[in-house]
Amino acid sequence: MPPIGIHDLSVATTHYALDLRELAAHTGVDVDKYRLGLGQETMSVPAIDEDIVTMAATAARPIIDRHGADRIRTVLVATESGVDQAKAAGLYLHPLIGLPATARVVELKQACYSGAAGLQFAAALCAREPDQAVLVIATDIARYDLDTPAEPTQGAAAAAILVTADPAIAELEPVSGIFSADVTDFWRPNYRSTAVVDGKLSITAYLAAAASAFTDYRRRGGRGFDDFAAVCYHQPFTQMAYKAHRHLLEGRGRAPATAALDSVLAATTHYNRVIGNSYTASLYLALASLLDHTPDLTDRPIALLSYGSGAVAEFFSATPAPGYHQHLRTQAHHDALAQRKPLTYDHYRTLHRTQTPTDGAHHTLPEDTNAPFRLAAITSHKRIYKTRQPNELRSRLSHFSQTRGVRPGCDGSGGGFGGSACGGMR
Ligand code: CAA
Repeated sequence: MPPIGIHDLSVATTHYALDLRELAAHTGVDVDKYRLGLGQETMSVPAIDEDIVTMAATAARPIIDRHGADRIRTVLVATESGVDQAKAAGLYLHPLIGLPATARVVELKQACYSGAAGLQFAAALCAREPDQAVLVIATDIARYDLDTPAEPTQGAAAAAILVTADPAIAELEPVSGIFSADVTDFWRPNYRSTAVVDGKLSITAYLAAAASAFTDYRRRGGRGFDDFAAVCYHQPFTQMAYKAHRHLLEGRGRAPATAALDSVLAATTHYNRVIGNSYTASLYLALASLLDHTPDLTDRPIALLSYGSGAVAEFFSATPAPGYHQHLRTQAHHDALAQRKPLTYDHYRTLHRTQTPTDGAHHTLPEDTNAPFRLAAITSHKRIYKTRQPNELRSRLSHFSQTRGVRPGCDGSGGGFGGSACGGMR
């Protein structure tokens, strides 16, 4: 059987970012709690006309542009923040990125974990039929209630991964360790747009699940920690990676120094530190960060630990392929972060409070994002997406580079639908 794994990896995030210093100035919390205690600096916040579909399309389109779509036989969208109870988000993507009619499309759900399930399903499909490619997209908007301890751990991003035989970036190794149990640490009933969380329980549940998944991985013949050049953890906040790695090592009688933790974790945290939690996408942002910021990992195994509250954890590994560096999208990832617009606190709260209209009337959404895809309207309960043409995109980006920063009128006084460019929605 040929090696199977990650042939391409592309990351996208939102139009806006909130600096946690701005949040701390209003909550009265010492900003070092956010920056040092949680390990977070800024968090991505979607514009009114962005959602998981627009982020997914923005992440996936460069993959289609590079490889074409002909070989894609399956599209798996992993998300906690689905936009419809019935229709898979991947079907909204279909016309936006030109997916073939011969690709099966489904959505996967298990809090932050389902991207790892998607990768495993994709690997199995490619093993059965090595000519096919599977597009796995993890895309999420992490939203908690305002004025809660969870507020600084929000964020949003998408990671699109093309899985094939003979992958250009990294081979997924076949051994994985799994742990599942019924835990109510983080959940979101269908009638809520923000998650409910028992913060302290969620941390202990994550640590226990990670340890059990690693034990299962070892029992099934997996590698020891010393074999890994780096370890990518699901990062609801980047200090969670440090907590988890320390916990796993201490469970094996080792007491790691901070420098030893940094050597396997620091490079995995650059993107999550400034994007915030992105649920399913977070682990692959950690992987992209590691690959984009490490000189050479060729043939050096990397561990990955996925955790989704509720709870499922999986410990698995990937080994970068010779020449993988030539296939990375480091500059595009840096540009996506650099192009985000800073938010004021009031504008952030307005965006957070705006809800998707549910009345079935026609709602045209104001043009807010600069992304190549946008949610243009909701009419008769249908979501209408638009693709920007390259010339429209160029002129919009050049206009915004001249007027960089928060736009007039977006001071929190407006909001909602009906013409204001301020507001936000899932
Ligand atoms: N300077 C430096 N550090 C400070 C500080 C200061 N002035 N003030 C506090 N800190 C440190 C604390 O000591 C603490 O560090 P340790 O964890 O090392 O003890 C850290 O900052 C956080 O402080 P608290 O524990 O007091 O924070 P909190 O209770 O107010 O909230 C939280 C933290 C529970 C993570 C909360 O943000 C939350 O509920 N977030 C959402 C849930 C979550 O992210 N859970 C993670 C595991 S579940 C998961 O991974 C799935 C998922 O994506 C949701």
